Amino acid sequence: MLIALLPGDGIGPEVIREARRVLDAVCGDALSYEEALVGAAAYRAEGHPLPSATLDLAKRADAILFGAVGDPGCDGLARHLRPEQAILGLRKELSLFANLRPAKLFPELADASALRPEVARAIDLVIVRETNGDVYFGEKGMRTTPNGRRQGYDVMSYDEDEVVRIARVGFETARARGGKLCSVDKANVLETSQLWRDVVIEVSADYSDIALSHMYVDNAAMQLVRNPGQFDVIVTGNLFGDILSDQASMCAGSIGMLPSATLDAANKGLYEPIHGSAPDIAGQGKANPLATILSSAMMLRYSLGMAAEADRIEAAVAAALAAGHRTADLGGGTSTGAMGDAVLAAL
Ligand code: IPM
Ligand code: MG
Repeated sequence: MLIALLPGDGIGPEVIREARRVLDAVCGDALSYEEALVGAAAYRAEGHPLPSATLDLAKRADAILFGAVGDPGCDGLARHLRPEQAILGLRKELSLFANLRPAKLFPELADASALRPEVARAIDLVIVRETNGDVYFGEKGMRTTPNGRRQGYDVMSYDEDEVVRIARVGFETARARGGKLCSVDKANVLETSQLWRDVVIEVSADYSDIALSHMYVDNAAMQLVRNPGQFDVIVTGNLFGDILSDQASMCAGSIGMLPSATLDAANKGLYEPIHGSAPDIAGQGKANPLATILSSAMMLRYSLGMAAEADRIEAAVAAALAAGHRTADLGGGTSTGAMGDAVLAAL
């Protein structure tokens, strides 16, 4: 099976390197790899953040393992040339619409959570975030108002088919876990959200075994900090899911710990840590590779049918933490490579 390796920018190459070492140890020759440029690295070399060779490779591959994109040096570029467009383009071009972001606290990391340990320990949830629509992909631009003032605009919209398919992923995810689904929206203000809520309720007719609730996004942000243990699966739109998943990551210890999968309708997927390129620490061996290593485990489980191998990797990560290894984001001094070594040793 062919894996597209897209390391990207900043700490991306460092964390992908460690994930690759772990995959080699666990899967050996069962996987082959092709690497391609993406993000600012691709822009500098080829003038575009998602060159056609990279997109072709992503389409050909059985799964994609992605590091991170983003570079402050590109902030002045036209939007379609900025590194972030690479990940948005991959999600859109490959119809990767279902972004699964599990947040679970490793017991050893209770002290690293921004929450009190007794609150943090209860976190075990999955955010199912839609990633093909919403304000991310609506019409956008800059214009001048009649009185000569600059105005920026981004149109938020969902059509009902988009909501149906992500709602189904939410319900199915809940069915495979604790049987509870919380749909997050802003239906008290936004028409987009009213449609979202109406459609989620319609889809729920097929899932009478799932306990469905609804929450406004502001309340959800508050409840995630107050009592994260109340959530099992959260299903939400692109923008709200982006924000809530960063928040959930800090509740679960560190943004350096959280993996993600973004799947199409056939479970082909792109796997990436939820963190960004962290240019401030790039190249210093400080990055935590565990989110990427855990993303590679998700890849084995969801796209490649290698659940036993995924379990082995997750157990090795837990063992490395239990043995006391901590990168800087977790308050320790373990380097990126030494954390990779610790996972390999635990395998
Ligand atoms: C994420 C990131 C991306 C997003 C950026 C890099 C475009 O924040 O995957 O959460 O907003 O989706
Ligand atoms: Mg984000």
